[in-house]
Amino acid sequence: MKIKATKLLLVTFLILSPITITFQTTFAQDTQPIHLHLTWQHDTTTTITVSWRTADKTSSIVQYGTDDSYGNEETRDEAVLHHVELVGLNPDTVYHYRVGNGEVWSDDYTFKTGTSGNHARFIAWGDSRHNRPERRAIMNTVNSLDFDFSVFNGDFVDSGLDGGQWIDWFEDFSPLLSHKPFMSVLGNHESNSSHYYNYFVYPGKEEYYSFNYGPIHFIGLHSCVPYYGGTFDEQINWLLNDLETYKDYEWKIVIQHRPAYSSSKRNHEGDYDDIQTLLVPIYEEHNITMVIAGHDHWYERLHKNNITYVVAGAAGAPIYTINEDYRIAESVYSESTHHAVLIEVFENQLDMRAFRTDKTLMDQYTINKEDKPDLRCNNLPTTYNISKGQSQNVTISIMNIGEVDILEETKTKVEISNGETWNITIPPLDAYESVEFKYEWTASSNGLYTWTITTDIENQIDEVVEDNNQAKFCFDVEGTEKTGSFIDSILGVVSALSALFIVIVIMKRKR
Ligand SMILES: [Fe+2]
Repeated sequence: MKIKATKLLLVTFLILSPITITFQTTFAQDTQPIHLHLTWQHDTTTTITVSWRTADKTSSIVQYGTDDSYGNEETRDEAVLHHVELVGLNPDTVYHYRVGNGEVWSDDYTFKTGTSGNHARFIAWGDSRHNRPERRAIMNTVNSLDFDFSVFNGDFVDSGLDGGQWIDWFEDFSPLLSHKPFMSVLGNHESNSSHYYNYFVYPGKEEYYSFNYGPIHFIGLHSCVPYYGGTFDEQINWLLNDLETYKDYEWKIVIQHRPAYSSSKRNHEGDYDDIQTLLVPIYEEHNITMVIAGHDHWYERLHKNNITYVVAGAAGAPIYTINEDYRIAESVYSESTHHAVLIEVFENQLDMRAFRTDKTLMDQYTINKEDKPDLRCNNLPTTYNISKGQSQNVTISIMNIGEVDILEETKTKVEISNGETWNITIPPLDAYESVEFKYEWTASSNGLYTWTITTDIENQIDEVVEDNNQAKFCFDVEGTEKTGSFIDSILGVVSALSALFIVIVIMKRKR
């Protein structure tokens, strides 16, 4: 009897142990950090603010360092929405970090401090609204790209007053927010709610602010103040001071939700008159390079008086179609599809590309301050769902993004990290002309492949620039070969033996 009781106890333990483990995990999640995100309040090269949420109030600790043994710790008061600013960091440096209360910790994450050099690579997007599958798709696309940080032009959710919608938004965007700094402005759908201000900490007044990254001075404006009974007066005073302070920056980019110009009925009916009357003259007088907005749910690029206006208003939001009756003369390109814009800025060049959710190139525009030939590889990091031994057609797209025609052939070598090489000859290309090369490639195993394209002429090719005549991009081959872990195997054997043991006990009892 005693042996039987012991056996039954053992079986009960074996069966219930996974349940016990699950129960304990669920219980511990009251102080489990979730919704991690990174912003800047001060110098982008030496500071970063780490924010997160816990279900219950608990203390706020960030451990950080250049490897996952951390070595540094910053502590703040107990909170539910936690914000801890790290200062005294080194520029251009990858840091590991984790957050928690001293007992319960997040996973290990990394961030990279801003550059002290003359290069920036960022994502511009906005209008995710509460379309969860669509906004998750564009978030996944963005998260697979190589960039430093992103700027978001507002309309995160349908109703900024609904706390549940913010939780859903963080659920959808957290994979990206835990490792890429995220700077944003308010849209009309935020309803100027405290949720926005509680979640995101930004410089100064937060509803409008500026920050610098590499060669760019960014200005974030609250373009919806008139919706809440306010005026632009205070912002304009601040803006004029700010532009005077940072007048030496070669590149000045404004982020706002409502556009200055757009081929929309709203524009046609005068909804943007206040911005055109009050803000555009300041932009023109102070050499603003680009104004990025959203609100109209499509992509549109417009040019007026040396300023590029971009409507990037579909990071998930319901798509609007342009009515040609409202097309304005300044409109150069538009497309009604979900998208994000990747912008790369060097000392003398700004290079923007708009991508659809499937990573295909939708529009591109380059500002060159020096007239020299320049080739760019348009390929982005891509995942192919193929297994080892299967072949895949790879298309490499090369574009002349210089302001001048390239009159000679350019000898080019493609080297793949598994040792393959492929020689291609790029024909003479007029300014903004592109050429495609197709290659049937067989993956020798699952995993990440780096493709390096090198030209025989210096200063000839860009894209994730390592050297002036070299571009790198990668293909991630996701195979179907999957094996379970050792622990999974052991648990499987234990479960099978437990089931067999129960059957034997029951049969013995029946006898
Ligand atoms: Fe909007």
